[in-house]
Amino acid sequence: MFVVVGVSGGVAAYKSVHLVRLLVLAGHEVHVVPTEDSLRFVGTSTWESISRNPVTTSVHDDVAQVRHVALGQAADLIIVAPATANTLARMTAGLADNLLGTTLLATTAPVVVAPAMHTEMWSHPATQHNMATLRARGVHVVGPADGPLTGGDSGPGRMSEPDEIFQAALAAVPGDADLAGLRVTVSTGGTREPIDPVRFLGNRSSGKQGAEVALTAARRGAEVRLLAAHVGDGVLMEASRHPRVEIVHTGTAVELQDAAVAAAVDADIVAMVAAVADYRVAEASDEKLSKQGGEGLTLELVQNPDILAGLVRNRSPGQTIVGFAAETAHTDDELIAKGRAKRRRKGVDLLAVNAVGWKKGFESTDNELLILDADDDVVAQVRGSKRAVAGALWDAVLTARQRTRMESTDGSLSLPEM
Ligand code: CTP
Repeated sequence: MFVVVGVSGGVAAYKSVHLVRLLVLAGHEVHVVPTEDSLRFVGTSTWESISRNPVTTSVHDDVAQVRHVALGQAADLIIVAPATANTLARMTAGLADNLLGTTLLATTAPVVVAPAMHTEMWSHPATQHNMATLRARGVHVVGPADGPLTGGDSGPGRMSEPDEIFQAALAAVPGDADLAGLRVTVSTGGTREPIDPVRFLGNRSSGKQGAEVALTAARRGAEVRLLAAHVGDGVLMEASRHPRVEIVHTGTAVELQDAAVAAAVDADIVAMVAAVADYRVAEASDEKLSKQGGEGLTLELVQNPDILAGLVRNRSPGQTIVGFAAETAHTDDELIAKGRAKRRRKGVDLLAVNAVGWKKGFESTDNELLILDADDDVVAQVRGSKRAVAGALWDAVLTARQRTRMESTDGSLSLPEM
């Protein structure tokens, strides 16, 4: 996992050195974001050597890499330890004038805080009010423990031990890593087929849904290859920052086919989310075409290869292949019927079908689709953000794989048709 550890200015910062070490030893990619104040307790060199990654505190460092939001976007998990009364108050207010603040605002990952402060500060209504707000927002709180504090006094306020924070933090990650160990290939975007050096045949796919499918798989532990045909601005930003996503850029259907065939060789799961042009211009012109008087223009089109059907024909044992189909339909029944016909034609294990129209399905952040399995049953019908839809798709993929495994070990059941 990609873990960000925020460190605020309390003496307990020294204990977080051990927390970072535990995370690194467990194989996680750890980035430490200390506040300026905390560097009085533990300095940059310690964090860099323990985390094995560069450390910055300012939003003005590494601006070209948009570091102030990049860490938050890439994170699978953020731990703030120690979390001082001041940092907790800043989190509650959503302040963003240091790198930790911007990172916390830019994330959708689970956030775990380990408060550390004197008992009076912890018990103060302001702090308790902040804690209640943070809890209500879904922030996980570990501790504080009851025990001796730095001033010689004793009471609740002592930061929990690193082992406890480590365990609580891992437990906070949803669905833990149910795709860990799986190699996944996802295609996204829309192919462009050249007409001449400046024109192409294309489609309206933005690539958002495929990028979310890839990112969700990576967050759930898979190693992901994302084959991107043309996508909208910024669509690949989060995926490109995820350590388990490798992006391969493609352009035409034939280029996408080459990339997909190569990637599928060792993939456990292939999801073709890309909108592939069915036709290309038979011979694209090397020169820019100009108008020919008042005449119309006839282009000769030839069919592109059906990438998905080819992948299904050459699938390796145990490989799960998922197709996507955008269909125009007036009713759910019509959509399901079109989906079933296409699933059978393509021979895929799962087909995600969504209804599209000129004003529906494209360029939006939300999506609505139904998922058909190898028996043509509707196994899910989801509506929500493209990220939520991606989550439902992976749930369906895991269920289908589980079923195939069970069926192949039980002779009384037949394998799903391929
Ligand atoms: N697809 C593909 N290669 C193509 C066309 C489509 O791999 N040449 C894949 C898409 O990535 C998608 C699925 O097939 O996963 C369904 O795409 P769609 O365009 O709906 O399928 P078509 O075969 O074009 O079906 P039709 O034209 O009959 O509607």
